[in-house]
Order: sequence, then structure tokens, then C-alpha cells
Amino acid sequence: MKTTSVILAAGQGIRMRSSLPKVLHPILGQPMLWYAVEASRAVTQTPPVVVVGHDAERVREALGDGAQFVLQEQQLGTGHAVQQADSILRGKTDYVLVTYGDMPLVTAETLKRLVDAQLAHDGPISVLTAVADDPRGFGRIVRDTDGSVLAIVEEIQTTPEQFAIRELNTGVFCFSADWLWDALNRIELSPATPKAGLRPGAQSEGEYYLTDLVEIAVSEGKSVQAIQVADTSEMIGINTRVHLAEAAVMMQQRINQEWMLAGVTIQDPKSAFIEPGATIGRDTVIAPNTHLRGETKIGEACILGPNTIIQDSQMGDRCEVLSSVVEYAVIEDDVDVGPFGHLRKGAHLASGVHMGNFGEVKNSYLGPGTKMGHFSYLGDTTTGADVNIGAGTITCNYDGVNKQPTEIGDDVFIGSDTLLVAPLKIGKGSRTGAGAVVTKDVKDKTLVVGMPARAIGKVE
Ligand code: UD1
Ligand code: CA
Repeated sequence: MKTTSVILAAGQGIRMRSSLPKVLHPILGQPMLWYAVEASRAVTQTPPVVVVGHDAERVREALGDGAQFVLQEQQLGTGHAVQQADSILRGKTDYVLVTYGDMPLVTAETLKRLVDAQLAHDGPISVLTAVADDPRGFGRIVRDTDGSVLAIVEEIQTTPEQFAIRELNTGVFCFSADWLWDALNRIELSPATPKAGLRPGAQSEGEYYLTDLVEIAVSEGKSVQAIQVADTSEMIGINTRVHLAEAAVMMQQRINQEWMLAGVTIQDPKSAFIEPGATIGRDTVIAPNTHLRGETKIGEACILGPNTIIQDSQMGDRCEVLSSVVEYAVIEDDVDVGPFGHLRKGAHLASGVHMGNFGEVKNSYLGPGTKMGHFSYLGDTTTGADVNIGAGTITCNYDGVNKQPTEIGDDVFIGSDTLLVAPLKIGKGSRTGAGAVVTKDVKDKTLVVGMPARAIGKVE
């Protein structure tokens, strides 16, 4: 039995007051729509069909091949939106799971519960409902005296008794496909509501409500099943930036909790921002104001922060990074960085490297045990093992046109305030005197001093 999900994301989200389409506003580094796509994919195992409309091209680009897309040119309602998937899904799937692009907190577990319930149900619809004190303008679930679901009534159309109902339509449905596509054609236009007037594509005469399918099924003598969501925070939809911030906090809490339960210490969960692509080993400690961004992999027993940003980087075990920024870098085991270090793209610190205050490393490999204690810059450089980079060492790697490489052999001692004018090779075991300006290659075990640096002896 195949299930495919349809994610509605055609709306502009006027109340965001933004030039960015609502569903692309990020939560922990990913567009909110990404969360809906991921949850769907985890349940259906196939890329969902995303219904796009407003700024369709941008939404498509942001998701790439994680989804298929259909265009809803005019936003004529949720029923009309699902109908757009008919042309690509009819005959290709047994069940259709409908979710929304602006509800990032709905979990895969909840979706799975709904789909499983529909697989076991003999009627054509299972709807996810929530019982909550604050109805948030949601549609009301109207039940018969025997408890069976009769209809979903939009708030604006409720009678006073229906208005008081606290079982709400989350908007998430699972349908039997063979019934759905034809039933969508039987939805009649509902009268215009003030909210519909907010949508650029909306017709003044009204829209086609997906929720009308419930009454249509019931009128055909078919059964509609309601599945209640356990945690009502999952149904939070985002309409404003206030909701966006609320959802971001909830997502942050959810991710942090997962890592804490997996053995990571988070000293101040409110100020730990761990994006969904990050992984963290056991016994690692995340100190306050630490951000793990993108595809970042952290080993075991590390201490990260306070005040640290790690972006798309990999780190081994037992590393410490204090008040530093690490971007697109690789750090092996037992490395310490900071305070105030900056690892830029292509930095690779081998095991046991010590990088102290105010260091910057770009596109460079620092061999095992190398030490770079104080305010230095290494760019396009390879060092061997156990090299000492003295305070204030600078690789002059840019001649104004090209980047040039520097190679430093094992056990080299670079004296304080040395300028290494690339392209340059410093042989194994050599030393430079304080303040040397090295413009020519240096042989193994040679001591060079001065400006420009010249050899004055051998290193024993
Ligand atoms: C809808 C439900 C309501 C439910 C609520 C839960 C209907 C008629 N009402 O109301 O019962 O309680 O969601 O959040 O279904 N969209 C399109 N194309 C359209 C219209 C909407 O893609 O033509 C998308 C929107 O971008 C949005 C989602 O569908 O992501 C929901 O639309 P919205 O207008 O917010 O529906 P509600 O009025 O909130
Ligand atoms: Ca809504």
C-alpha cells in the first residue's frame, strides 16, 4: 500500500509582512517547509507533492529534489489546492496524506499514527484533531450523539453551540485515494470570508474547503475517523513572526531534549542552538551561547563554548573550543581552540593541535601536535607534525592576484613575528628568528634571521 503526502504551501502569508514567502522563513537554519517535508518523507518513504503558488520558483529552489511540485495559480482554497495533485497522483498512490507547509512541529510519529489509523479504517477519511482550550480560529469537529464525526465547520460559519466545541481540525488528513480525487470535484464553493480576502489569488465569491469532504463522505454513508493528537503544541501553525519565534523555541527545545537524553550535557538549553543536521557524541558539554549549524558532526567528550559557532564542520573526541568560530573545517581528536579563534573553510587541525587566542586558519592543514598559541594567520599552508608557530606569525599568501602555498616541515620552530612570504617551503627542523621576513625556501635544519631572512647556521 503506497501513501504519498501533499503539502499545501501556496499561501503568501501576508501577516508575516515579508518579501520572503512564509514557508521559507527559517527555523534553526532550515525553511519551515523543510520540516513538513522531512516528517512526510519519514512516513511515506517518497518525496511529497508540494502545492506551490506564491513565489513558486523560490520555494521550488529552496527544496530542490526533496519534493515534487504542483502549481496552484490562484488560491481558491484548501480543497482546490489538494486537487492540483490529482494530475500527478491519480492512480499512483493508495493513500494521500495532507499536511501544511506552515506547521513545522507536526512529528513523523503523529503522521504515522494517522496513516496507520486510515490503513485500518474502512471509511475514506481520517482526520487529525486536537482538543485545546484556545480554539485559535480553527475549524470545529462536529460529532453525532453516538460520537461519530459528522462535519468540520469553519469558525466563521459556526452556530453558537458549534463555536463552543473544543475539538479542533488540525488540518492534517489521510484519505483513501480512490475516493478522494472524485470527491474533490463534488466540493461546492463556500462563501467568501474576510480571511479569504487577504489572499492575492482569492476570488471574491469564496473558496473550496477541503474540510467539506467530511460532510460529503458522511452524506454517502461513509465513516470519518478522528485521531486526536497527543501533544497539542504540534498543531501550531505559523501566521506571524510571533508564531515563528514560538515555533522556533519549541523546535529548539525538542532537539536539545533529544541530545540530552542521548548523553550530551547542555548547560543552558535556552542559549544552545543545535540545528537538525548536527550530531553530537556522548559526554560532550555544550556551554551557553553555542550554535551548531548545518551538517556538523561533534565527537565524544568535547567542551564547546561558551560563545561558539560551529558551522558545517567535523570534530573528533575530547576537543575544546572556547569563544570561537569554526566554519567548514575538520578538527581531529584532542584539539583545543580559542579563545577567539577562527577556523575558516578548509582548515584541518590534526590530533593534538593547540590553537590559542586570536588565531586564524584558512585552507590549511596543521599536523599532529602543532602549536599556534597567539595571534597568527595561516592561509594555504601545510605543516608537518609538532611545529611551533610563534606569536604573531603571518603567512603572506596573497600577492594581490593569486593565493600562494606555504609548506612547513616537521619540528620547525617559527619565531615570534615571522612573516612567511609565499610560495615558500621551510625544511624539517628549521628555525626562524624573531621578526624574520622569509622570502626564499629554507633547507632542513637551518636557522634563518632578518629581513629578508638569511641562513646563519645549522640547527642541531
Ligand atoms: C484550515 C482549515 C481549518 C483548520 C486550519 C488549521 C480549511 C477550509 N480550513 O483553515 O479547518 O482548523 O486550517 O490550521 O481547510 N493553502 C493553499 N492554497 C489555498 C489555500 C490555502 O495552498 O488555496 C495553504 C496555505 O498556504 C496554508 C494552508 O493551506 O499553508 C492552510 O490554509 P489557511 O488559509 O491558513 O487555512 P485556515 O483558514 O487556517
Ligand atoms: Ca492557517
